[in-house]
Amino acid sequence: MSASALELDDIQAGVLRPRPAPYVATYILFHIDHNAGGRELLKRLGSVVASAAEAARAPRDAWVSVALTFQGLQALHVPQAALDTFAPEFRQGMAARARDLGDVGESDPANWEKPLGSSDAHVVVTVLAPDRERLDAALARARKAYQEIGGITAIWRQDCHALPNEKEAFGFRDGISHPAIEGSGIPGTNPEEPPLKAGEFVLGYADEMSEAPLLPQPDALGRNGSYVVFRKLHQRVAAFRQYLRANAADADGEELLAAKMMGRWRSGAPLALCPLHDDPGLGGDAQRNNAFGFKRDDAIGYKTPAGSHIRRMNPRDADVAGVARIHRMIRRGTSYGPLLPEGVLDDDGVDRGLMFAFIGTHLDRQFEFVQSEWMNNSEFFSGRPAKDPVAGANDDAGTYDIPRRPLAMRLQGLPRFVVTRGGEYCFLPGLRALRWLADLDR
Ligand code: HEM
Repeated sequence: MSASALELDDIQAGVLRPRPAPYVATYILFHIDHNAGGRELLKRLGSVVASAAEAARAPRDAWVSVALTFQGLQALHVPQAALDTFAPEFRQGMAARARDLGDVGESDPANWEKPLGSSDAHVVVTVLAPDRERLDAALARARKAYQEIGGITAIWRQDCHALPNEKEAFGFRDGISHPAIEGSGIPGTNPEEPPLKAGEFVLGYADEMSEAPLLPQPDALGRNGSYVVFRKLHQRVAAFRQYLRANAADADGEELLAAKMMGRWRSGAPLALCPLHDDPGLGGDAQRNNAFGFKRDDAIGYKTPAGSHIRRMNPRDADVAGVARIHRMIRRGTSYGPLLPEGVLDDDGVDRGLMFAFIGTHLDRQFEFVQSEWMNNSEFFSGRPAKDPVAGANDDAGTYDIPRRPLAMRLQGLPRFVVTRGGEYCFLPGLRALRWLADLDR
């Protein structure tokens, strides 16, 4: 299929269009009590969800996207023959995949926030707006509409935000690195990365393996859809700060250590381009802050350690087993909870973290591979089964190697800084598929 054939007008805007900054957002989870109510909800949402084509043309006060869990499709009475054509990981759901994802101990689904990971979670609606006022207005309209509908119940809600400087709870600028997608017209952020085939992110198109990922059937349901992974990730900010304090000689050393764990300074400036000190101008410069590879001049990781978060999550051109391009993802992370004030080292007991969102067509070789192999089990990066120092499932015994001359530095006793509070695997239908679901007559 040619690149230009990407049907932007049938793809939900949230799949391809980067989010504005700043913004506020709310996730609402619905239970479908009765299939007629569920169909009516999708019918009404169909008229407010923008397409990727429209998003390029017109600014809006609020953006809505809608995704369904496997149980949601069942509750709508999607025929079994169609249900059987969805990816097996999606049919099992995130909670059933916990062991592979490193969701053990505190992150075990038994400890998740209810009703996440339960069979009650059916439809995830995300409403996003540039400011609180416009979000509240959109939510008031949404509340009125779903109260009229009947047969559906809102069972969970999470408010989130992206600050103007896009800093997440640990204090790093996020939302920098995004892949370019063939035919989308949206440039990526790394000029050294050729655009990826659309089939990596949208169902119904050729992917990097020169084949089309299995399209859920019928075509009218699967085409122009994507899989989405939502994860509510609690961040232990005080523990992160304490760890830096305990393992660095002074404040400058703490900043360097934080950067060595992330692969970027807190400003977003990559170690690859400024290894010795932060450069906030570079960090905020979208033309330069993602323009780098690792292989040419940092194969060993003296600048960006091979085990750092960004190098694990996207090794770029570095030598790793396999092909990095088939493990890429669209990320739409949003912070929740108030920031822990600067300088505070004691936990205040407040829940804060990241609503992580992955978008792609291959739950297995994209999200699950990166989460299980590169984040939590990667001998590729160190020759030892060390985990991601920032977001990995560490257990107070984790180690982290920072290449240095003449001797490498090894961090010991890494605790877990990120705890999974819950999540869902969802299918994000194209706009025609939303209508197909709304028109199901059973
Ligand atoms: C609370 C947990 C997490 C935090 C605080 C976090 C934070 C960050 C930050 C600050 C960046 C650098 C900014 C950027 O490149 O856009 C980043 C990049 C990235 N993260 Fe995470 N992240 C978390 C969890 C995850 C998870 C669970 C995954 C996937 C399984 C992931 C995948 C990525 C990817 C793919 C990149 C881009 C790497 C690149 O292209 O250079 N992150 N993350």
